[in-house]
Amino acid sequence: MGVLYGPKSYENEPHRDPSLIENAVLLPLLQNYFPSQEPFNAETPPKALVRSFVTPEDLFYKRNHGPIPVIDDPNNYRLEIGGLVPGPLSLSLQDLRNLPKHTVTATLQCAGNRRTAMSKVRKVKGVGWAISALGNAVWGGARLHDVLELAGVRQESSKRHVEFSSVDVCKEENGGPYKASIPLSQAMSPEAEVILAYEMNGKELNRDHGFPLRVVVPGVIGARSVKWLTEIKVIEEECQGFFMQKDYKMFPPTVDWDNINWNSRRPLMDFPVQCAICSPAEGDLVKAGSKMKIQGYAVSGGGRGIERVDVSVDGGKTWQEAQRFQDDKEYIADNPEKCKRFAWVLWELTVELTNSPLEVVAKAVDAAANIQPEDVSSIWNLRGVLNTSWHRVKLNVVPPQSKL
Ligand code: MTE
Repeated sequence: MGVLYGPKSYENEPHRDPSLIENAVLLPLLQNYFPSQEPFNAETPPKALVRSFVTPEDLFYKRNHGPIPVIDDPNNYRLEIGGLVPGPLSLSLQDLRNLPKHTVTATLQCAGNRRTAMSKVRKVKGVGWAISALGNAVWGGARLHDVLELAGVRQESSKRHVEFSSVDVCKEENGGPYKASIPLSQAMSPEAEVILAYEMNGKELNRDHGFPLRVVVPGVIGARSVKWLTEIKVIEEECQGFFMQKDYKMFPPTVDWDNINWNSRRPLMDFPVQCAICSPAEGDLVKAGSKMKIQGYAVSGGGRGIERVDVSVDGGKTWQEAQRFQDDKEYIADNPEKCKRFAWVLWELTVELTNSPLEVVAKAVDAAANIQPEDVSSIWNLRGVLNTSWHRVKLNVVPPQSKL
């Protein structure tokens, strides 16, 4: 008893904040009577996202593929480290806590963030995320490379991967657990700051986010940050699990379900430059002649900072540069003293409104000068991943004397 396990049913799900926007099949009213038969997937209300640099755990998006695992006694938890390692290990939570603690502020983003907009071009398969399938948190735990070094692993250039396995029951894996891997070179690099996190925002990790232990791979799509971690293995090549081989890959717009060859593409890793407008929201009423604050987030993968955020209020004809912040302080990309390289920037711009129709558009440029594509149809893909096209929000302008 006491070992972490994945239940088959949804009777033991944790309490969740009612303001989360759920991507559920059942209507919320029915859920009071029947526990959901679906994994819990929900995102943050966009205006709440820009309220704080660090996203509160309760409001952080949640992406699951099965019921949330259960552990009766965390003292009995073990993390097994094996595969191609000179000295296999079995570590308790206390063993992990005894290693030097590292914290990293990192944005986790689901590869399917902004998928619903892609479905407007042509239907795609997947959870229908709007713009908030991401969040920024301070993760605390042991460094993965410290743990691998304890098992005798040394930095080496090879095709080897480090595989992370969980215990949740996933139908995509025919009832098996969720698994993913990252290259060994990344796992062993101190700059990559990959950690085995037992804390989120200074508190014990909660069940929804992987209690008692998860891996956090900064700058990489959320799918590789495996929750409820029980096993780490060094393997010869990348993990062969469903979520590496048959999901979270991006195909060209010409590939559809009748001509797909999953082996022709590599698993997604770093996410590309992304930004979105969190306030105002589509359809909001605004008064001509008033001032309006536009706010949003911008983030890029691989530790690349955000060089610029351009905002337009006339549908993309003219642009102004937004101010960028991290932790309420002005942000300078790639200045180690002034930026947290794996964290998003929040940005804002105040504009004076005229009587003209208003379409707010935002696009970001990252530190490697990568720019978001203008048009979603040019990056359409059947799984609806990595929609990083310019984000557009149309508003309704009312005369100055109107009551709002
Ligand atoms: N790990 C396990 N064990 N099971 C899962 O379903 N989902 C992955 C990843 N790790 C998942 C997992 C995906 S797709 C994402 S985007 C992130 O967890 C979501 O992390 P969060 O729920 O803590 O926000």
